[in-house]
Amino acid sequence: MSTIKSDLLEGFKAEHEQLDAGITRLTETLDRLARGVDSALLRALADSDRFLQRVLVPHAEWEELTFYPAVRDVLRTHGDVNAAMLIDHREIVARIQTFAALVRRLEAGERDPELLDRARILGYQIRALVEVHYRKEEEIYCDLIRRYLSDREAPSALAVGDQLGHD
Ligand SMILES: [Fe+2]
Ligand SMILES: [Fe+2]
Repeated sequence: MSTIKSDLLEGFKAEHEQLDAGITRLTETLDRLARGVDSALLRALADSDRFLQRVLVPHAEWEELTFYPAVRDVLRTHGDVNAAMLIDHREIVARIQTFAALVRRLEAGERDPELLDRARILGYQIRALVEVHYRKEEEIYCDLIRRYLSDREAPSALAVGDQLGHD
């Protein structure tokens, strides 16, 4: 790979790392909420609000303007258009497994408040990921099936439960 490309790709990853730092500050601030709200916490919340609006949203806008359009054709030709969905599944399943391990510990009698908190946060993470994932499946995949698959093709695409032998 050329130096130009590797430098640019490194820069892109570095930008995500910076965004991660902002998101981490946001969640750290939220973790402090349970202990009460004071002026320092309000300032931290305002900082996070500013970060989301002035850094994260413009990052997404930039991706829609240049990053995704630039990759669209190569994705179609050389990529796997389902890869993003499979990554969603992988991330959701990983959290489900971690959640299951936490539930086992609670069932075994552990009552550490931090454990309960981690289970709660993980549950919300799973919910958010699943909600976004459903949006993609319904708005993109189902719409394509509705418009382009024949009555003969649609059943094999949509009979998910039947294929796995569950409800
Ligand atoms: Fe991004
Ligand atoms: Fe799915």
